[in-house]
Amino acid sequence: MTDDPAKRAAGYAAVDRYVTTGTCIGLGTGTTAYYAIERVGQRVAAGERISAVPTSVETERLCARWNVPVAALLENPMPVAIDGADEVAPDWSLTKGGGGALFREKAVALSAERFVVIVTESKLVRALGTFPLPVEIVPYAAPYVRREIERRFPRIEIVRRGTPDRPFVTDNDNWIIDCHFGRIDEPRALDDVLRSIHGVVASGIFWGIASDVIVGDPSGTVRTLERVQAS
Ligand code: A5P
Repeated sequence: MTDDPAKRAAGYAAVDRYVTTGTCIGLGTGTTAYYAIERVGQRVAAGERISAVPTSVETERLCARWNVPVAALLENPMPVAIDGADEVAPDWSLTKGGGGALFREKAVALSAERFVVIVTESKLVRALGTFPLPVEIVPYAAPYVRREIERRFPRIEIVRRGTPDRPFVTDNDNWIIDCHFGRIDEPRALDDVLRSIHGVVASGIFWGIASDVIVGDPSGTVRTLERVQAS
């Protein structure tokens, strides 16, 4: 992976600010979360006791590389979880799942007392929806899920992730469909509709979960994002 100073700054800052020794934390997935995992690894190497609940098989592999002990969800109290995002709206609603780990990411984020989001400026948007919305679905029910989404939103494009012969398979043995809704003005309502369809496991909309958003800059500085309340 090529070095990215902005992602590194955000990942390191989140760990330095919010992770205390002797705790178990949630660790996200992706190229920004990578740096948070690296920072935790450095602290473990320096002798601190920190364990982690990984949000994907990939993150579990990185934890092993850094000798960070892993724990199951809610095996221990989890004061903080740290993860990246694909889009962050002004009210801190998020799109996640670009890497396909959204189900476990949401489970960990909801289980933690505090969910710290780490991003670069490019992820900040005025409204969600430029990034197609990932939705994890049970493969058996895929035709039904597609029909029901198309019935409710007739003009949207739905693309199953992967290639025609080889679908992308999640860590939970499910599929991802990327749904091109365009601008999403009511993320909570959309998440509710999608979750009501039998066969949908989770959507990549994270609404009302983020506690803090740290934005990294290529110069290596960070800022915390102010939240604008949804009207
Ligand atoms: C993984 O499924 C995603 O939710 C990632 O957290 C998200 O895609 C951000 O990844 P990057 O930090 O690599 O952009």
